Amino acid sequence: MTKTVSKHLLLCATPTKKKCFKGNEGEKTWERLKKILKKFEIDHPTKNIHILRSKADCLRICKNGPILLVWPDGIWYEKVSPEKISEIFNSHIVHGKPIERWIFKKTPFLNSTRIS
Ligand code: FES
Repeated sequence: MTKTVSKHLLLCATPTKKKCFKGNEGEKTWERLKKILKKFEIDHPTKNIHILRSKADCLRICKNGPILLVWPDGIWYEKVSPEKISEIFNSHIVHGKPIERWIFKKTPFLNSTRIS
C-alpha cells in the first residue's frame, strides 16, 4: 500500500549557530519526536498516512526556539520542548486540533504563490 504524506514536521533542533535556544533542548525534542513517530507507525500500521520529520538547521526565526513548523498547515510553534512535542503531536497531528496558545505564526500553504 502506498502511503500518502499528510504532514511534514520541520524542527530547528541542532542549528549551526544556536540563536533561538540554549542548551540541548532542540536535540532532546528531536529525539522525543523520533520516538513518538516510531510508536505511531507501530501502533497504526494500516493507516494510509505518512508523517515526515526533518531536522532543520535554522528556520529563520531565531528566537523563542526550538521552532517547529508543521506543513502543509503552515503552523509555527515556539519554545517546543520534549513535553510540548508530545502534546502537539497528539492534538494537532493525530486529532487535527492545533494548540493555539503555543502558535506564534500561521502561513498556510494553500495561500502561498506558486513560483514556476
Ligand atoms: S536558530 Fe532556530 S530558527 Fe534560527
